[in-house]
Amino acid sequence: MTTTTTTQEFVQITDERFRLGYHVAAANGWINDPNGFCYFKGYYHIFYQHHPYSENWGPMHWGHARSRDLIHWETLPIALAPDTEGIDEGGCFSGSAIVKDDKLYLVYTGHHYYGDGDPEHFWENQNVAVSEDGIKFEKIAQNPVISSAPEDSTHHFRDPKVWQEGEDFYMVLGNQNKEGLGRVIIYKSQDLIDWTYLTDISYAESVEKEGFMWECPDFFTIDGKDILLTSPQGIKAQDEKYRNLFQTGYFVGKMDENHKFNRGEFKELDFGHDFYATQTALAPDGRRLVFAWMAMWESDMPEKADGWAGALTFPRELSLHGDRLFMKPVREIKDLRTEELVKASINSTEVNLLEGQTNTAEIRADFKTEGSFELNLQDEQANVLMNLAYDQANGKFTLKRADREGDDRFANLEVNKNEYDLHILVDTSSVEIFINSGEIVFTERFYIEGKPTISLKAATEMLGEYVTYQLDNKAIDYNIK
Ligand code: FRU
Repeated sequence: MTTTTTTQEFVQITDERFRLGYHVAAANGWINDPNGFCYFKGYYHIFYQHHPYSENWGPMHWGHARSRDLIHWETLPIALAPDTEGIDEGGCFSGSAIVKDDKLYLVYTGHHYYGDGDPEHFWENQNVAVSEDGIKFEKIAQNPVISSAPEDSTHHFRDPKVWQEGEDFYMVLGNQNKEGLGRVIIYKSQDLIDWTYLTDISYAESVEKEGFMWECPDFFTIDGKDILLTSPQGIKAQDEKYRNLFQTGYFVGKMDENHKFNRGEFKELDFGHDFYATQTALAPDGRRLVFAWMAMWESDMPEKADGWAGALTFPRELSLHGDRLFMKPVREIKDLRTEELVKASINSTEVNLLEGQTNTAEIRADFKTEGSFELNLQDEQANVLMNLAYDQANGKFTLKRADREGDDRFANLEVNKNEYDLHILVDTSSVEIFINSGEIVFTERFYIEGKPTISLKAATEMLGEYVTYQLDNKAIDYNIK
């Protein structure tokens, strides 16, 4: 086992114009998937796929931040670097964290290229690193803990998510079977080091319908129902569904005693352009919390010009309603409010919820209206950057972005009672729109210099109220401790 060091310089932030005030992002450089989301010794920890040497994806490190309250985050030193030959020299890919005997364990994928210059020609193994203080991590001597993919699979073998049941630890992994179908496989261990392969828990019906590779799997229970949350690659776009390059969604069902997951159909979790690769954690109070990468591979990411790219969503709480997962911002958000900017009733066909006061805001609007309505996000020159239109006749939301012409997104309300609540989080270059207690969510990035206006316009009178808060725009401490 040889370890390498690098003499490269970290990329520098050259302009703060799009920097986020209360969303986790890296101090500099590229990020993608959230990793290792957990609670350990009084702190929530979140890690992320990170390339600190440039604004583009590159050899993956694990960036790291921690928080006592889920909303104020301090950036910590990079937890894992791809520095160990045979273990992770091609990248420390996604994985998870688990607490055992008062120590924090990271379980992650080592990525390896064959050196022929073909990025698709790779192999993957699974590794462990451990920490006493939750800051400094050491890769264990027994690595790799799983040296290769099972015989009945291809080389796609990554993104371990580990959890504990009684004395046993389980790990689900994203994988592809020999038929080229995406699937999730499960391993078992008593000590996080010695792992036994059990079976595949579920696999895609077909590539077109459910994908060729299931990335970032997560398996958990809410209200007695088992949920497999995963990011399949390769689902074919249908008219108004699956329009991102890759999707993130879930299956609801029941795992049987042979670890086979009997499940329903795949459902998308968020309907926006900028949402991928979720990871959940159980909060000490029992809430199932989720982070996602607030971007997507095909997104432009204009912040690259400023020395960084990508961020995580605001942390959300998941809940199950029938067989649908709802997401809403964690309730701790109330402690980010620094000022109530406006609170007023809605009793007309037009209202400005935000009027250029700030670019870090939380808006809550509750209203009734008989017909259709739309929400617009505009820049200081009144250009409409984003339009979310609700068609009352067929219960459908259509989201249009000026910078993605013809690339609209759609979502349908299960039941329309002509009554709506919108919970909107604006943070400099991101907007997350939670509709009707999080039944539908759109996550989007937008890029303006200046402060946005957000307005509601309806075909018939709207009756209700709204409140807009200024949120703390210094909730992320980017200075590495
Ligand atoms: C998902 C993903 C993971 C992989 C990581 C690499 O976005 O492709 O499957 O571990 O990103 O950065």
